[in-house]
Amino acid sequence: MSVVVEVKCLRHIYPDSTTVDLCGLDMVVRAGERAAVLGPNGSGKSTLLAHITGLLKPVEGAVKVLGADPVREFLWLRRQVGVVLQNVDEQIIGPTVWDDVAFAPKNYGIAAAEVRRLVEDTLELLGISFLAKKIPHYLSGGEKKKVAMAGALVLKPRLLVLDEPLAGLDTRSRQEMVDILNRVNRELGTTIIMTTHDVQVLPSVADIVYLLCKGHVCLHGSPAEILSCPERLREANLDPPVLVELFHRLAEQGLPVSLPLSVSAAADQIMGLVQGTGLVQPAATRLKLPGPADDFPDLGVKEVVGMGG
Ligand SMILES: Nc1ncnc2c1ncn2[C@@H]1O[C@H](COP(=O)(O)OP(=O)(O)O)[C@@H](O)[C@H]1O
Ligand SMILES: [Mg+2]
Repeated sequence: MSVVVEVKCLRHIYPDSTTVDLCGLDMVVRAGERAAVLGPNGSGKSTLLAHITGLLKPVEGAVKVLGADPVREFLWLRRQVGVVLQNVDEQIIGPTVWDDVAFAPKNYGIAAAEVRRLVEDTLELLGISFLAKKIPHYLSGGEKKKVAMAGALVLKPRLLVLDEPLAGLDTRSRQEMVDILNRVNRELGTTIIMTTHDVQVLPSVADIVYLLCKGHVCLHGSPAEILSCPERLREANLDPPVLVELFHRLAEQGLPVSLPLSVSAAADQIMGLVQGTGLVQPAATRLKLPGPADDFPDLGVKEVVGMGG
């Protein structure tokens, strides 16, 4: 797989002399990958993205995007890279959703019929065709994020860069955004780099994670590898998910468990352990509880045959 983004030991100094160091491990994102940059507030995530999109120039270190220097090849890369800012109000400029998404293709001089096709296809891909005539200002936060994404995707970029795309969304909007990101990656083959401080979401949105701790890139690996290091997450001022914490402690106590990446994977492991003790019979299919039993949902357990002790 070809390399899309390469970042080596980056250092940025802001005009007020705030220094952001992103040294440690080199970052390499390959074509078709979904990469997440994980770190707490102020750890340098947005600074890193600004270097990848060519908005900032490093004092030290090197950044290459699609083989090019993002500052020198800014105009060429703008066509290849879609960007979704954390505050999407800064990037939505059209009077209607349709106008906003059509802005870049019109600006590149693409013929009207083709612009219409590109905008319609993109709105449909993101499931927001019904918003086409709406005034962006009045949309909900989740809808605005989708509009910004449509604007970033309309020219079918090879790379999509998103700054905290899941921050500030309610559970349903977050899940919709996760589904959209995965659909874009799967159906268009777009490489994705996103920042997040949400550890929980990693298994559903990332193939590879770069963890920023105390001014350097301290760890990279699959979501499972990153989640299996709760002490490194804490070092980075991030709380490991409760399930990870729980299973880590159970493993430390000698229970034969492995890291669960979902609630159902955790439940399967617990059921496996409990069945091994004979507390629950494997053929069980329904939980028997006192009261109007028919009101209880089927929990996949027939009868609790003992409580241990
Ligand atoms: N324009 C700026 N001028 C001065 N300092 C800045 C500027 N932007 C960010 N910083 C500082 O750089 C550090 C990293 O910020 P940022 O990249 O925004 O982190 P994150 O996105 O992880 O929250 C922080 O200490 C922040 O205060
Ligand atoms: Mg930021």
